Amino acid sequence: MVKNIVVLTGAGISAESGLSTFRDETGKIEVGKTEVGKIGGIWAEYDYREVATPEGFLANPALVHEFYNKRRAMLLEVAPNAAHIALADLEKRLLDQGAGFTLVTQNVDDLHARAGSINVLQMHGQLNKVKCVRCEHIFETCNDVSLNDSCPECFEVGGIRPHIVWFGEIPHYLDDIDEALSDADLFVSIGTSGSVYPAAGLVGAVRQMNIPSLELNLVASENAALFTHGVYGPATVIVPEWVESVFEDNY
Ligand code: OAD
Repeated sequence: MVKNIVVLTGAGISAESGLSTFRDETGKIEVGKTEVGKIGGIWAEYDYREVATPEGFLANPALVHEFYNKRRAMLLEVAPNAAHIALADLEKRLLDQGAGFTLVTQNVDDLHARAGSINVLQMHGQLNKVKCVRCEHIFETCNDVSLNDSCPECFEVGGIRPHIVWFGEIPHYLDDIDEALSDADLFVSIGTSGSVYPAAGLVGAVRQMNIPSLELNLVASENAALFTHGVYGPATVIVPEWVESVFEDNY
């Protein structure tokens, strides 16, 4: 029985809830004849330099707000799927047994929390939070954000930005992630293409520490060869199956 599991998730775990991933081919992803996700491939539709960099925000903040407003509004239309729920269940069962569990996610949606996960490190920020660039105050919102908004703390107008880690910025919780990995005896990566660092580098780090690793993805990711094991299929199928297997002493 494992004692400490660290899971990393990416956009693929939320695909079957109806949220687009970033890098898939435009269109839908099918397994056999079943559509397993509404895949738009966000970076095929938008130039990430315009909407997901500090420079893009400086150049055209209204466009950046529009991009994240759309995505924030989507949160109200989607619900956690069986994969999110299985991970919340895994956390509860492991903690009940005195084991450890850390969920690291690159996702900025709130589906892990809504599924009941507690120890979630959202390394790329949160869609339902914004930050005042003048006083650094961070606060929750489920509404559209604009340049006319004022900060509830310092009352300055025009300094509100999405609480999202953009390209060129440093992700959150890097020390906590390192600490969780140093104690892990299994690392599992779910629904991520492994193309954005530092998240993409975690499998290499655990490999150096001789920690077993498992990739769960629709298809093999760019980093697939670095994992000890790989299981491929839709997250709503393979994640609940893997969670059950943890308690059958398969790992
Ligand atoms: P990507 O869009 O790069 O990759 C999504 C992964 O999910 C791919 O490997 C797909 O094969 C897999 N996938 C798609 N549908 C799936 C399903 N139904 N079941 C299982 N797997 C599925 O998304 P991320 O790797 O999360 O950062 O992207 C990482 C970061 O790049 C994001 O956090 C974001 C983006 O730019 C920022 O915005 C800073």
